[in-house]
Amino acid sequence: MNTPTQNFEQPTSFEFTPEVMDMAKAHIAKYPADRQASAVMPLLDLAQRQHDGWLPRAAMDYVADFLGMPRIEAYEVATFYTMYNLEPVGKHHVQVCTNLPCWLRGSDQIVEAAKRNLGVEMGETTDDGLFTLSSMECLGACVNAPMMQINDDYYEDLDETVTESILTELRHGQTPKTGSQIDRKSCEPIGGLTSLNSDAGGD
Ligand code: FES
Repeated sequence: MNTPTQNFEQPTSFEFTPEVMDMAKAHIAKYPADRQASAVMPLLDLAQRQHDGWLPRAAMDYVADFLGMPRIEAYEVATFYTMYNLEPVGKHHVQVCTNLPCWLRGSDQIVEAAKRNLGVEMGETTDDGLFTLSSMECLGACVNAPMMQINDDYYEDLDETVTESILTELRHGQTPKTGSQIDRKSCEPIGGLTSLNSDAGGD
């Protein structure tokens, strides 16, 4: 979702709400006084969250002006990272990792299950505005591949059935279980600990 299109309306203005402004100032305070531009990523993220999950150009301009940096530099950040959506997305942004480790572990089947359940192709949003389906490169959870990210949550160790079940639960307003779907703890080996395990004779 990092390629802007023009078939939707761009708002002409944007500004932080007072509540978001407080959060923005807290981020800026982490950096030296003349280095406030270092806060561009969290501020773009705040702007996106305030604006229904996507970043209009007016929001990028606002953040750049607020930080006293060239607007082009804010565009460069927003167009580089896939975490920023430059066009509207559904309430649930379903991002299936299709990078190599996830692909080797069956991401093609996860993609097909998501398409089947949602009735959309990659890059599309469902007619009810609930879901947008996207393909992502590595999301950093390869050890529990295949996986997908939906908004701020990771769903790992997926198969087709579990993928469809997660999407159906979300459609019904429920809260599916996050993390590993096969109940492994964090990213431990599927077969259990093999080292640093007193039962296995380790120290
Ligand atoms: S390859 Fe999918 S999370 Fe890294």
